[in-house]
Order: sequence, then C-alpha cells, then structure tokens
Amino acid sequence: MSSNKSAANSKGHVPVLLSEVREQAKEVALELGQVAYGFDGTFGRGGHTKALLNDHPSLRMIAFDQDAEAIQFGQTQFLGDVDCGRLQLIRGNFENLEMARAALAQNGATNFDFMLFDLGVSSPQLDVASRGFSFYNDGPLDMRMDDRTELTAAKIVNEWAEQDLARIFIEHGEVEFPFKVVRAIVQDREKTQFETTQQLAGLIERVDGWTKKGFHPATQYFMALRMEINRETDVVAQMLPKALKLLSPGGRLAVITFHSLEDRIVKNFFRERDAEATFGETVKRKAIQPSDEEVARNPRSRSAKLRVFRRYQDGESKRPKNKYAHLAKTRHLSPPPDYDLADDDLGGDEEETS
Ligand SMILES: C[S@@+](CC[C@H](N)C(=O)[O-])C[C@H]1O[C@@H](n2cnc3c(N)ncnc32)[C@H](O)[C@@H]1O
Repeated sequence: MSSNKSAANSKGHVPVLLSEVREQAKEVALELGQVAYGFDGTFGRGGHTKALLNDHPSLRMIAFDQDAEAIQFGQTQFLGDVDCGRLQLIRGNFENLEMARAALAQNGATNFDFMLFDLGVSSPQLDVASRGFSFYNDGPLDMRMDDRTELTAAKIVNEWAEQDLARIFIEHGEVEFPFKVVRAIVQDREKTQFETTQQLAGLIERVDGWTKKGFHPATQYFMALRMEINRETDVVAQMLPKALKLLSPGGRLAVITFHSLEDRIVKNFFRERDAEATFGETVKRKAIQPSDEEVARNPRSRSAKLRVFRRYQDGESKRPKNKYAHLAKTRHLSPPPDYDLADDDLGGDEEETS
C-alpha cells in the first residue's frame, strides 16, 4: 500500500504533556520573575514552543531540530516570531549544545531559564511514507531524522551481520527472541535486497505473526532500527550534562521520553545530580505522565514520561536525603542505629521503567 500523504498535508503533531510543560515554565516565571531565554531541543511542529511564547511575553526561544523539514515548517509557520527575534531556529542535533551556547552568546546571554527536550519522532515523520518510518505506509527503508547522515534502515537490514541485527533488536527494541526474524532477513536478502518498509514489515508479520491485537508485530523491530540510525539513546546521554551547564540558577530542564531506555538514562542522571545535592534537584520524584483524558485524545502520548530538574539558586543547597550517602555507596549497608529510615526515600519507582 502506498500513501500519498505529503509533508505539506501532514502538518499535524499534537504536543504531548503540553499543560504539564507549561506549568513547569510558569513555576520558573514565578521563581525568577520571568522566563527570559528558553530552549526547545526538539522543535518538531513547534507545539510546545508556541505555547511557551504565548505564555511568556518577554521570552525568547532558541529551537533546534535535526530535521530540515521541521525547520522549514517553523520558518514559514512561525515567520512573525522569527522576524521579530523571539524565535531562532537552528538545524542541528541537540547533542551539539555548543551551538546553543553560541546562539545565546550572540544575544548577550549565557543561560536558559527553561529547556525542553521532547524526544523521539514527530507525527509527520511517522506518518509521511517517504520518511520510511512507517510499516503501514509503504516507503523507502530510510528512518533518518537528519538526511545528512549516511546510515539508513536499508543499509542495516541489507548489510549488517546477523549478530549485529539481533543485538539492536534486543537492545533497542527489547525483542526477546529476534532470532527467527533475523535469520529470515539474512536468507531473504540473498535473493532480493530490502528496499521498502512493507517488504520488511511483511517478513516480520510472516515470521512472528500477530500475537497482540492492535500491536503490529513489526513495531519493536522498527523502533529498534530507528533508535540505532538516529543514535537516540547516545545523544540523550551526551546532551544531559551539557544542558544542565546551560541552565540558569532557578531554571528548569524538562525531558519527555517515550521509551524505557531513554527514561532510565534521564531518571538516573537526574537522581545522581539530586543525590549530590549541590547543583539542583528533581522536581518530582515520579515521572509526570499523561492523564487518561490525554491518552484517549492522543494515543501516541500513552508511553510519555516527563522528568524535570531544577537548578539551585546561587548559594542554595539541601541536606542530602540520605545523610549517610557518603558512607554507603551500596544500599545493602545497614543504616546507623539512630537513623530514621522513614526520613529517607530509599524506595525507587523501578516499576516505571520495567
Ligand atoms: C516528538 S517531536 C517534537 C514535537 C514538538 N515538541 C511539537 O510540539 O511539535 C521530536 C522532534 O525532535 C527532533 N529530534 C529528535 N531527536 C533530535 C536530536 N537529537 N536533535 C535535534 N532534533 C531531534 C525530531 O526530528 C522531531 O522533529
């Protein structure tokens, strides 16, 4: 099946956890008096950026997207904000936050009061067949968010060794037993190279079959390819420490993830900084998740998790939650006799990322 949806008629992306993100930026405004500079590392269709610009009249936003099409969209649809200098759009990968620092410096500023990263792909990327992300709409096996990079899904599927294919499906896709699919790929590609998304999806359907109603058997395999091609977990891990350094005292860094691996990276990074109790703190211990109403309205939001980190004001610090943390690097050490366990939030929320 071929889709004739084009980028032009598929502008729709419903921003996820929008009111929750707005609320976090409003908290910054309450604390700092305003949100002067904001950063959106994943502009997409600009849904979050637009709301933030509306909410904060003195805000100037710098926004990145590695996808040329997203930047073009912003340049036309946000022309007024671009022209008056409230929005600066930069095509780039958010792992290169040095570019954001340079853009701030051009404005005579050094820090962002609010930073947002809404990870993953946008609806137009998923829905437009020619981008090659979709197993429903037939397109070339591509899946690159940034078409300047070389690695495509076709390259991986046609050229990578069997064990490397298995590894990415297990690591990124969390497919428990990808071996039959991988073997079939390797056998089939001897005869005909894989060129289209439906060729690959068809093979997975044939080998694995439908086990869960409404859940295409290719879902996790496609996600794994996409994550490998766009280095999705690596760039998040690179970005987080750089982003914190760009945050103003009292500023907040908000990250929305859609995948347990990414969420774990963000959660652990924030918790480690939180435990140091010198730079800042996680705003809520548990991830903020969409309401039932939002999931009903926008099913793509169902796996979203928002985590927020607030940088301390100068001179601010807090007593470590576990006052003996420096003595016990591992949790199995017994607390001292006078230690009040109730005071210490040792219980994690591990179930969130299982
Ligand atoms: C989930 S969408 C963001 C949607 C956006 N918040 C909105 O409301 O329209 C993710 C966007 O981030 C971009 N993106 C993903 N990873 C990126 C990265 N490492 N660097 C820059 N852009 C990235 C994608 O190209 C996509 O346009």
